[in-house]
Amino acid sequence: MVENSRVNRDEKAECYQRALVEITAMLEGERDEVARMATVSSVLAGAFDYFYWTGFYRMQGGELVVGPYQGTPACLRIALDRGICGATVRCGESLVVDNVHVFPGHIACDPRSRSEIVVPVWDAAGMLVAVLDVDSEQVGAFGDVDREGLERIVAAVFTAQETPCQEERDWG
Ligand code: SME
Repeated sequence: MVENSRVNRDEKAECYQRALVEITAMLEGERDEVARMATVSSVLAGAFDYFYWTGFYRMQGGELVVGPYQGTPACLRIALDRGICGATVRCGESLVVDNVHVFPGHIACDPRSRSEIVVPVWDAAGMLVAVLDVDSEQVGAFGDVDREGLERIVAAVFTAQETPCQEERDWG
């Protein structure tokens, strides 16, 4: 487990690389999107001690609905015009927020969260299917290394792999 205050950038990057290797090995041959999200949340939450809430919100019917996560109970649904998660969907790029309390429209599911990173999740067809949201109790916990590490994991797990077609999503 990596403790944020004690590691340098290289150690953090190595931890992301180890997590990527572990996740891709565990998910080999697994196409189910929820199983992949559950595995990513679990491995990441166990790898970094400064991850207070780690999980996914999935695009469902024009809003974000909570998916697999590790952490305290979270808001179930987020409209796309709200929160850091909604802002990430609107701009289509990762957002790193050093102090959530000064971010306009931030949704405080848990007041202990102080900083946050949200990464868009694209499928192989180029559809934005979810966001990966990580909160920390520390102010300014996330930086470039976290953004790059999380984006690489999301790309490897959800974008580089064939995903179920829409019919399979809807009907299993
Ligand atoms: N803070 C997020 C809401 C989700 S929770 O952090 C789990 C937001 O502002 O979108």
